[in-house]
Amino acid sequence: MSFYITTPIFYVNAQPHLGHAYSTIIADTVSRFQKIAGNEVRFQTGTDEHGDKIAEAAARANETPKEYVDRISLMFREAWPPLHIEPDNFIRTTDPNHIKTVQDILRQVHDRGDIYFSEYSGLYCKGCDRFLTEKELVDGNCPDHLTPPESISEQNYFFRMSKYQEWLIGHIEQNPDFIQPERYRNEVLSFLKEPLEDLCISRPTSRLTWGIPLPFDDKFVTYVWFDALINYLTGIDYPDGPDFARYWQGAEHLIAKDILKPHAIYWPTMLKSLGLEPYRKLHVHGYWNVNETKMSKSIGNVIRPADLINECGADSVRYFLLREMSFGLDSSFSYDALINRHNADLANDLGNLVSRSLTMVKNFCAGKVPDQGTMQDSDRELAEAAITMVAEYREQMEAFAFNRALREIWKVIGMANRYIVTNAPWELAKDPANRERLDTVLYTLLETLRLITLTLHPVMPATAIRMGAALGAVSPPNLDSQGRWGLLVPASSITPGETLFPRLKKKTPTPAPAGNPATDSPKKGAKAGRLEAEMPEGLIGFERFKEIDLRVGEITRAEAIKKSDRLLKLTVNAPEERTIVAGIAEFYQPEELVGKKVIIVANLKPTKLMGVTSQGMVLAARDGDNLVLTTVTGAAAAGSKVA
Ligand code: MSP
Repeated sequence: MSFYITTPIFYVNAQPHLGHAYSTIIADTVSRFQKIAGNEVRFQTGTDEHGDKIAEAAARANETPKEYVDRISLMFREAWPPLHIEPDNFIRTTDPNHIKTVQDILRQVHDRGDIYFSEYSGLYCKGCDRFLTEKELVDGNCPDHLTPPESISEQNYFFRMSKYQEWLIGHIEQNPDFIQPERYRNEVLSFLKEPLEDLCISRPTSRLTWGIPLPFDDKFVTYVWFDALINYLTGIDYPDGPDFARYWQGAEHLIAKDILKPHAIYWPTMLKSLGLEPYRKLHVHGYWNVNETKMSKSIGNVIRPADLINECGADSVRYFLLREMSFGLDSSFSYDALINRHNADLANDLGNLVSRSLTMVKNFCAGKVPDQGTMQDSDRELAEAAITMVAEYREQMEAFAFNRALREIWKVIGMANRYIVTNAPWELAKDPANRERLDTVLYTLLETLRLITLTLHPVMPATAIRMGAALGAVSPPNLDSQGRWGLLVPASSITPGETLFPRLKKKTPTPAPAGNPATDSPKKGAKAGRLEAEMPEGLIGFERFKEIDLRVGEITRAEAIKKSDRLLKLTVNAPEERTIVAGIAEFYQPEELVGKKVIIVANLKPTKLMGVTSQGMVLAARDGDNLVLTTVTGAAAAGSKVA
């Protein structure tokens, strides 16, 4: 199957920021995913360089429009490789072949009678570069730019968009996947309930010269959206190039909700007028906000890709953005959240799994893949989970549910870390009689790691390449041929590399107590390195110690608490079931906690945290920035008293 994924082409009136990076990282991830899924892929991004906004930005910068667009377009082009983004084509609307394609298309649509000349008065928003309807205004302002539109009356050329309204409604209704997620499809359908106006597609040169001249009237230039949308065709050499024949049927556009209307309404009707099939799908994502507001230069909360990379490296940024946002919904960005994810998911969960596993193979198997031997239930359980993960991951990635796909991978990472603890290879290594068992355990771990590596390629390409090299995995990655169990060849070499993800310090450190953080404010003199259940300074008598009811608690459920980065809601058997809210979300994934036996303070007064009543406290040791739960290994039953 062919797959042609595109990002919006970005206006060059601003420098690349987190929002642009997000769309482009998704497109790159999709492109890499479709490649490892065996499809023929083309990925295009680029810059949108004509129109009022750009001409004004150039004037403000004291440059000619051409000098200005060359400079900013280069900034976009250069922003992507450091984020490991590798487009097949970077298009600019000032490219001569694009100008020619736009003029050819205008001529065709004009010849068909779908363009006419007329007088128009309307409310024009410069920020949007389009006329707004009265209905769209909020308190007289453009809802996106919060500025009043200008009242403009002029003669212009119009595209008969209204002619295709019924066809478009029918197409969207017959193709439920055409616009995704569904909320945006519904939004478009509800907009189409009102009669569609024709689209003004020209600007008189008396007002704007920075645009593509209309081929049939040189007193006008082309409206920037009619020019820009055509980039998706120019980039694959419409109408005669082999790439057009190969890729147009697989065209999937990726945008944020701000430009839904041009993509869901203008563009399909333009294509229809040209006699072309519409694109295959439109994927619409939400906004990244910073401190609950949209990023904007005037507020001064713009996040630059280079700053993110400096903070934690490109792969970690990619992981964070895809893990944190539910595709289609808005998300809030914070450096703290970025660093938490880096430390918890990457340095702790993934990084530790890789380094522990590879080091054990180095130490116990002379750095060679051991034989698989005879698998026991616990080995089979991990192997089956890893195979299931590949299938579920694939389904979620195909549906653009990147956060869920990553969750599937991390479930198995959590399981593999628990598998190490349960099987304790270092204990097995003490007795040569356990050789075969030790080999099986380490082989199972290595194979699990290989499958994890395979699925990580699209989101974290550099990390996956390093992991693949350490494991001696076959390259290039391919889900069909390599998504099976048992492909690592015994006796081949394993080469542990450098630490994958060094732990990072938070910019604004916040304490992360494990127990009831709201009520159990640290008592005077509490020190770092302490058990998190607070002890008064100095010595205490045994009687006083006896007042604290410490018990073994088995975690049977763990879940995130909405709106809290720090808290997890745990269901603990000790032996009766109780709920404990613990400030450990930065350090543990809910799924890896289930089954753990921890030590709890069982006789604390209940307290409410983020609306959840917590009946106790979990003990944990703080080591610098890290927090480790005090767990009980061995056969102590849930509820056993800790003395
Ligand atoms: N030039 C037009 C697109 C023409 S496509 C034929 C344009 N350019 S833009 O520079 O304003 O880019 C808008 C796009 O940038 C959004 O649709 C989205 O992909 C990305 N984002 C910009 N800000 C964003 C956020 N705050 N959050 C997420 N994505 C955002 O519109």
